[in-house]
Parts: sequence; C-alpha cells; structure tokens
Amino acid sequence: MPKLAFDFQSPEYQKNPYAVYEKLRTSDPVHAFTFEFFDQKAPAWLITRYNDCLQLLKDARLTTDYRQVMSEAEMKKFVQIDQFESFSNSMLNHDPPDHTRLRLLVHQAFTPRMVENLRFRIEEITQNLLDRMAQQKTCELIADYAYLLPITVISEMLGIPEQDRSQFRSWSKALIDTPSDPDGLQKMNASIQAFTSYIDDLIAERRSKPTHDLISALVQAEAEGEKLSEEELYSTIFLLIIAGHETTVNLIGNGILALLQHPEQLDRLKQHPEIIQSTIEELLRYTNPVQVTEQRWVKEDMMWGEKQFKQGDLIVLAIASANYDPEIFYQPNRLDITRTPNKHLAFGYGIHTCLGAPLARLEGQIAISALLKRFPNLTFNQNAEIKWRPSMGLRGLVALPVSLFD
Ligand code: HEM
Repeated sequence: MPKLAFDFQSPEYQKNPYAVYEKLRTSDPVHAFTFEFFDQKAPAWLITRYNDCLQLLKDARLTTDYRQVMSEAEMKKFVQIDQFESFSNSMLNHDPPDHTRLRLLVHQAFTPRMVENLRFRIEEITQNLLDRMAQQKTCELIADYAYLLPITVISEMLGIPEQDRSQFRSWSKALIDTPSDPDGLQKMNASIQAFTSYIDDLIAERRSKPTHDLISALVQAEAEGEKLSEEELYSTIFLLIIAGHETTVNLIGNGILALLQHPEQLDRLKQHPEIIQSTIEELLRYTNPVQVTEQRWVKEDMMWGEKQFKQGDLIVLAIASANYDPEIFYQPNRLDITRTPNKHLAFGYGIHTCLGAPLARLEGQIAISALLKRFPNLTFNQNAEIKWRPSMGLRGLVALPVSLFD
C-alpha cells in the first residue's frame, strides 16, 4: 500500500492544499494510502472528486460508526484518546436508527425558523464586539471577533455561563490541532480530561437546577431513560460546543481574508451588501472551513469503479477538493461572490449533513456584513505571514492582524 502522496502537516499542504488536491483529482482521484497516526496504521482511501464524494456521502455501505468494524478498545488505541467514549457517542458517530433518535433530540433548536429568531441577538453580540474593537486602531480579527461571536451564540443556546467560556479556547484547540509529537498527545488528553470534568459539573448543576437551555433539555431527555444514555448526553454536548464554534470561526476568518485578498470582490460586496447570501455560499466553497468529513469506515467489501474497498478500510472524503472540481464548478480557483448555481459540499451531504448550517450561515452573513459596514477601510498587511492551524480536518487561521481605519 503506497503512503499518502502528501503529508497534511507539510508546509506545502498547509500553504495550499488545493494544489495538492488538484494533482490527486486528475491523476489518482480514489487514492490508496496508509493512514498513520503515531504508531497506528490503517489502510485508507482519499477521495477528491465531487461526484465520488457526493455518492459516497449517501452510500450506506460506509459508516461513521467505528463500532461496526472494530472494538471500542481498538478504536481508543487508534485515536490515542483515553476518554474517547465521552465524545464518540453523538449523532455524528452513529447510523440510523440511533443517529435519527439523537439528531431529533436537538434538531428543533437548529431549524432555519428557530435560528431566524436568534437574528436580533446575534446582531447585538456582533455590535458589542465591534464597539469594543473600535476603541483601537488595529486588532487581531480571529481572537477579537471571529472566535467570540460563534462561541457566545452556542454558549447562550446551551446555557454555558459567560465566565467559563474562555477555557474552551485552549481545550478545544488541543482537540482540533492534530498533535504531532507525544507531548502534544499528552496535552490533548489532558484537555479532554479537563473538558469532560467541566461538562460533568455542568450536567450535575442542570440536574439539580434545570433552566430553559439546551443542556437542561438534554438532561431531562436522559432522565426519561430510553431517549439518551449518559455517554450520548456527554457526546452530544461536546459535539455541539466544538462543532458550534470551531467551524464558524473559520468561515468568518478565512472569509474575511479571502475578501481582503480579492479587492474587486470586496468592493462589489461593499457596493451591493444585498449579495451577502451568495457571498457566504461562495466563501464556504472557496475557503472550506471543513476540509475533510468525519472518517468513514467500509462495512463490507465493495467495488468503487475499478478499486476494491475492503471491510474496515478508512475513507477520507475531501469535500474541500470536491468544491474545486472543474467538472462541477466553472473556474473553481476564482472567487466569485455571485456564483450561481453553487452546490458546494462544505456542509457535507446525506444523513450527517451539518445540523448547524442555518446558524453558521446566519452568523457568517451578520459577522461579515457588520464588520465591513463598521470598518469599510479595513486592511491587512499583504506581506504579513499567513499561518494556518495544524489541523487535519479543519482549515483556519492562527491569527489575522488588521488595521481598522486607514
Ligand atoms: C461554517 C460552519 C460550519 C461548517 C463548514 C460545518 C460543516 C459540517 C460538515 C461538513 C458536517 C458533516 C460531517 C460528516 O458528514 O462527517 C457537519 C456536521 C455537523 N455539524 Fe456542522 N459545520 C458548521 C457549523 C456548525 C454549527 C454552528 C453547528 C451547531 C451546533 C454545527 C453542528 C453540526 C452537527 C451537530 C453535525 C453532525 C450532524 C450529524 O451527524 O447528523 N455545525 N458540519
């Protein structure tokens, strides 16, 4: 089995994953490689074309539920996470009927209509952040803005007290930024431990004093039995916190950077703020906050074109590459904020399609429109080094220093 043709932590890939994807898409779109994580190895396939990603996202012969191909102990060893069960029991790692049951428990809070009710509050949080930024001439847009909006919104939905939220940044960083040495691995496990014990306390508090938030509703569902086990409760809270902010921060951060790098598109948006919806869709396609989906496992031997997938193989679906497939998107390397149609796969597809998509879209639209309205002369140093977080699945900036006024 050949090794992966690229190392996702290599400077080449970090700088421009799209050039790497393009090579694979044309020369080896269903690419066999060995997935390696420290001393663990698994036979794997990297899928880079749009139609293959789309079909495989709908294919029930693949599963995100590793339990169907290996034991809990084997998986723990594979991912090297001591408390893996605390966050591997959410909807994301289950097939129907468990997936359907777990998704339905929270689905109601994330429908477009429910999310629309949050518009006023999201605008208010945004304006408060902008007011704070306006007191300085420069700011670091990720920490001061892109991060704070989604974490505040999801924390308010879940009922996480304001004073506790700052800890999440380092905990979730240790989870998202893939460790490359034993020290990093240890840090990751320590963060998971701290995060889990925090959620422990939060659940205990909601059990004794329920309020009107999502965690209380989930705790109530657990108490009624049948609906939700304790591990599912933990995993769902974990998933909502992490998915609720680690992705949208990248939509806002990567999106602003892309606009600043394309002044003609930025001017167009400033002159026509009403095109913000198609702008956000194009920024999702062009910047891909999520590069590859959750890993899928092959449940039974199957042919894919001329390739044979074996039971237990790992499938990596590069949706970021699919979103640059010239078979589907006209001039995919061009940022075009009026692109239509734009059937990108940035939120995935099929049963696991992003539950938070309406919320992410609304947060992205409000964050980018309000920022440009308040600071129309926003600039960044074109020569400054752009650093990306060393994450396997997500793509986001370490920092984005900007000048707010001319
Ligand atoms: C720009 C922001 C976002 C992007 C690009 C994004 C992307 C994705 C993708 C690609 C998936 C599918 C994963 C797979 O099939 O393996 C997914 C699933 C999910 N996302 Fe998002 N997401 C974003 C924001 C959010 C937000 C704000 C929430 C709110 C809590 C959220 C909650 C979820 C959940 C719960 C799932 C699992 C759904 C399931 O398994 O049925 N996401 N997201």
